[in-house]
Amino acid sequence: MKISKKAAAVTPSATMEITAKAKAMKKEGVSVIAFTAGEPDFNTPQYIDAAAKEAIDKGYTKYTHVAGIKELKRAIVEKFARRNGLNYNEEQIVVSTGAKSSLYHAVYAVIDDGDEVVVPAPYWVTYTEQIKMAGGVCKIVNTTEKSGYKLVKEQFEEAITPKTKCVIINSPCNPTGAVYTKKELKDIADVCEKYGLIAISDEIYEDLVFDGNTHVSLASVSDYMKKNTIVIGGVSKSYAMTGWRIGYLAAPTEVAKAISGVQSHTTSNACTISQYAALAALTGEGGEEFIRNMSNEFDERRKFIVQKLSEIDGLRFPYPVGAFYVFVDVSAFYGKKLGDKSINDSLSFANALLSEGVAVVPGVAFGFDNFIRLSYTITKEEIEEGVKRIKNFVEKLN
Ligand SMILES: Cc1ncc(COP(=O)(O)O)c(C=O)c1O
Repeated sequence: MKISKKAAAVTPSATMEITAKAKAMKKEGVSVIAFTAGEPDFNTPQYIDAAAKEAIDKGYTKYTHVAGIKELKRAIVEKFARRNGLNYNEEQIVVSTGAKSSLYHAVYAVIDDGDEVVVPAPYWVTYTEQIKMAGGVCKIVNTTEKSGYKLVKEQFEEAITPKTKCVIINSPCNPTGAVYTKKELKDIADVCEKYGLIAISDEIYEDLVFDGNTHVSLASVSDYMKKNTIVIGGVSKSYAMTGWRIGYLAAPTEVAKAISGVQSHTTSNACTISQYAALAALTGEGGEEFIRNMSNEFDERRKFIVQKLSEIDGLRFPYPVGAFYVFVDVSAFYGKKLGDKSINDSLSFANALLSEGVAVVPGVAFGFDNFIRLSYTITKEEIEEGVKRIKNFVEKLN
């Protein structure tokens, strides 16, 4: 059977490939420390599990409105007001099968064939593929160490052409852990307003921000942005609910309606039981405490991994202040060899490192081939052992 040109143009996720290899090695009894997971290693809090069980017992197992149950949309409206200082109404909220799904429906709803979307690199691997799938053209902007790998005004303006429609901002950022300040977001907002652009703001890691930084929503920095931003969020990372598949977005009413229309032909409503679980997550009493505890634990591990990695000569990385990743420049080792294996890009580095019992995601998946991404959602002991193996590995290279 012939694959469509559209499907053939999609690059399969490098994250999945390395993760699968690491899993296969583990199955064979090989010791592998996996820094690859994009999810918290915490269990979903019990009060959320209980709400899902109750939903089943009450028979809440049928279709719901495409954009989600009213109570959950209300809870999301309240979250935006409480947490982000943003006032929406329920018609502006669309609940989906995960933030990834929200993103795709958003892109599909606003991008026409040939429209350009500015994507600051390094970027989360899915943005570029979804833009291509929706017929858009990615305008990749390589951010720099100087700006902390954040998009700055000058670079943004340079990337704009008459075809530019949209920019994607991800703060806190996967993979760098960068968090945009209000001032930096205002700069982005000014450029959007000057050129009449819209924004998609992926804020899925909003609850994981460290060192006294605060998360600011792009939609909250000006009236123009409120009217021209689609904010993406979800419960996956904040409440350790990755498998429940609940994301959401907030958008101007007409856009939310269009997105809901698109979603009505893809997934329909998100899983009904999961919607009740997400409702409990956002409104239950234990929520804030759970987030605080998880965030404190990640903060400790972040400081620990940063300390350990900084003891290895040749590694450089932007100091992460959000999400749960460290994005490490390993290009100092390109041109070296492990036995007869040459290392000259992030994939060969990651593959060679895997043979030494450490799984990481090659930076090429994020558009930055000089880097690897390490997720610190594993125990401190595992972090310690994994970084020790990385140190031994780079010292072996010649
Ligand atoms: C930046 C970013 N956005 C969105 C998502 C998707 O979240 P969800 O699991 O809710 O689809 C992820 C998951 O890894 C992510 O890292």
